[in-house]
Amino acid sequence: MQIILGITGGIAAYKSAELARLLVNQGHRVRCILTEAGSRFITPLTLTSLTGEPCYGANPDQGEWRANPGVEHIELARWADLVAVVPATANILGKAANGLASDLLSTVLLATRAPVLWAPAMNTGMWEHPAVQANLQRLRSFGHAVVEPGEGVLACGEEGAGKLADVAAIAEAIQVHGTPKLASLAGRRVLITAGPTREDLDPVRTLTNRSTGSMGIELARAFRDAGAQVRLVLGGDLPSPWGVETMRVRSAQQMLEACTAHWADSDGLVAAAAVADQRPEASSSEKVKKADGTETLALVRTPDILATLAANRRSDQWVVGFAAESEKHLEHAGDKLRRKGLDAVLVNDVQAGRGFGAQVNTLTPLTVQGPHPALGPLPKDQLARAVVQWWAGRLEAGKG
Ligand code: CTP
Repeated sequence: MQIILGITGGIAAYKSAELARLLVNQGHRVRCILTEAGSRFITPLTLTSLTGEPCYGANPDQGEWRANPGVEHIELARWADLVAVVPATANILGKAANGLASDLLSTVLLATRAPVLWAPAMNTGMWEHPAVQANLQRLRSFGHAVVEPGEGVLACGEEGAGKLADVAAIAEAIQVHGTPKLASLAGRRVLITAGPTREDLDPVRTLTNRSTGSMGIELARAFRDAGAQVRLVLGGDLPSPWGVETMRVRSAQQMLEACTAHWADSDGLVAAAAVADQRPEASSSEKVKKADGTETLALVRTPDILATLAANRRSDQWVVGFAAESEKHLEHAGDKLRRKGLDAVLVNDVQAGRGFGAQVNTLTPLTVQGPHPALGPLPKDQLARAVVQWWAGRLEAGKG
């Protein structure tokens, strides 16, 4: 994405340098515009060094706003895929809400047709003032997104709302707001299972697997960015993604219960979890003592979450599963597709270190029509977006 990062005058301006670097590391191009007050808190040199792009000042004699001052704001407004103002003062919110254009940033904000996102930061009294809240309301009515400030001790010494939101959360919100929505997924409720499950033998021992849950989490992000309302049922320890309702579970039974509770009001399911197929027949509340000689652990099957939900679905609900195979991939995955009654299976080749824990992965979609062209090899975030594009295309064509 090509992002204009507007930086206005507040002590949180130093955090926008961190945000600029994070966005660049995520593969975006970032051009900064400093307001005059913003340039008292952070310098153009810091921002050009971090972004490798020009930084623009409030006026022609500041920053690098030199090339063609007459139309620069129009060129920048066209260049942007998204304009984010971080931190946003009460002043810039008031200007933008009322269509005032008195410097480069406010002019670009008025001229651009790109999505706009605000991350305000200010004193609690200012934040709570009805004028500021009314301005935010007006900006939201233009389709702008607002990443609300958090609460904490502010630079002015007061404690309350007004602290700039977490930089990582702002980066996620930029990703969400800047990604075009897909018609077949926008507003749809998608249930996703992810991560390993853990089956406890006793208070200290557990049966689990090497899945981290990262592919399911990236899928949750990609569906969220495409406009879906995502509910994630997550095992393991990875943090849940911003903007996704997450239910944390431990065992396969808990995962089934969380999914069952939300299945009726979901439009579709993506089962990316690596569910333990067995659990210990007996689980002890006290630590089990070791014995001499060979010990035997009796295992029983856990519920198949994907098969259970697929068997209890309405005709308007779709179901996509995964198959981790090390040999005869399409044959085994085709069997899973039919046996579990799925609309599609994403086949993951887990031989020779591929799949679990690997950074780059390939998935081959399989439907009743047969195999589809492989997606990847790609890093998991891009692979997840490719999966969402592919699946949204099928839904749109009425083949979901
Ligand atoms: N799955 C599930 N609940 C289980 C086991 C698997 O929801 N108890 C889901 C996984 O999330 C995945 C799909 O089923 O989407 C395939 O899982 P996998 O373990 O590969 O397939 P199995 O049907 O268990 O077959 P096998 O172990 O023989 O490969």
